[in-house]
Amino acid sequence: MQFPERFGRLPSYTFGQLRALLDAHAPGGDVIDVSVGDPRHAFPAWISEEISANSCAFGRYPPACGTFELRTAICDWIDSRYQVELDADTNVVSTCGSREALFNFCVALCPGNNDGCIGRVLIPNPFYQVYLGGTVASQGIPEFVEASEQNGFFPDFAFLGKETLDQTSIAFVCTPSNPQGAIASLEYLENLVALAVKHNFRIFSDECYSEIYRDTAPPSILQAVRNLGVGLEHVVVFNSLSKRSNLPGLRSGFVVGGSETIAHLKHFRSYSEPATPVPLQMAAARAWRDEGHVAANRARYQSKYELAEDILGEFQGFRGPQAGLYLWLNVGDGEKFALRLWKTRGIRTVPGAYFATEARGINPGKPYVRVALVAEEDELERGFEGIGDCLKSGAF
Ligand SMILES: Cc1ncc(COP(=O)(O)O)c(C=O)c1O
Repeated sequence: MQFPERFGRLPSYTFGQLRALLDAHAPGGDVIDVSVGDPRHAFPAWISEEISANSCAFGRYPPACGTFELRTAICDWIDSRYQVELDADTNVVSTCGSREALFNFCVALCPGNNDGCIGRVLIPNPFYQVYLGGTVASQGIPEFVEASEQNGFFPDFAFLGKETLDQTSIAFVCTPSNPQGAIASLEYLENLVALAVKHNFRIFSDECYSEIYRDTAPPSILQAVRNLGVGLEHVVVFNSLSKRSNLPGLRSGFVVGGSETIAHLKHFRSYSEPATPVPLQMAAARAWRDEGHVAANRARYQSKYELAEDILGEFQGFRGPQAGLYLWLNVGDGEKFALRLWKTRGIRTVPGAYFATEARGINPGKPYVRVALVAEEDELERGFEGIGDCLKSGAF
């Protein structure tokens, strides 16, 4: 039997690489797992009530692009958060979280060889692995652009030059960024939109960490579009309730974009029809209309940033995140450090190299480890102390 060769060339997913590094060795203590970033704070109790109150709707197929109630709640949230007005019928699609959308919409919107295009896809490096999966599935050509500390953790796509930019179909940006926890400024986003207009490509803006921040609410690329007055066709924005509301299991997110793009996506989606069940969409609509639980969730992450700073702030490679669910610690050699930390203390972190790829001779994730801040505070505290001791020992 044959399998498509292009998927076989995808590297093993981040956590597969991690298992291969660590699992042959016994943990050196009670396991503290700060590798996976699945949110673990409690979600509001009324989510379950809402699902149960609407459970009769499990008896019908859900509308694949979302109920009107959900799409309207999303538009209202975008208006109040970013002062950008959208149309619930023509600018929004409900998705099963943002991951499937990042993958599937790449397939839907990246023209390839059959369309007579080259279809380059610009990907920040380090990056969320799904961007590469979507690119390969759509037969686009990935073009990795370094997003390291020297450039504020955001890629400078403009340096690529006219020919590459003219062949570009999609440029991914992630703000706040995973893994680095950096926020793209509105000026950066405006420059990126101007570049997309000039070279006629689309920006896929992954904003799923937008509500988890330290002190400044991150801007959206939607504001950049509004400020420049260029219309929405050059941007597609992805967000979800997974981090904002601690509902990764609800599988509810959205995509917004220009009406032409959204019409194309709806057509594409009418064939595969991935859809969140209606009772879950009803709960999602309520979650987008409530900010109380989001503020409480954010406050808990803010206190975790402080805890990290108190315990690890003295180390040279420590940089407190501006946003998001992770610490991105420069430890010199992330793989060696992660292995040592596991073998001597049972603490499971992810080497930064596993979120990046080697491009132009370097893997910009290599010096780092990523530490997820999702565990309970007392467990995190023990994790930070173990990381601090290991850093002090210097033996890795
Ligand atoms: C950068 C980034 N984008 C998107 C996602 C997908 O999240 P979800 O599908 O739960 O919305 C994740 C998940 O961890 C992520 O880290």
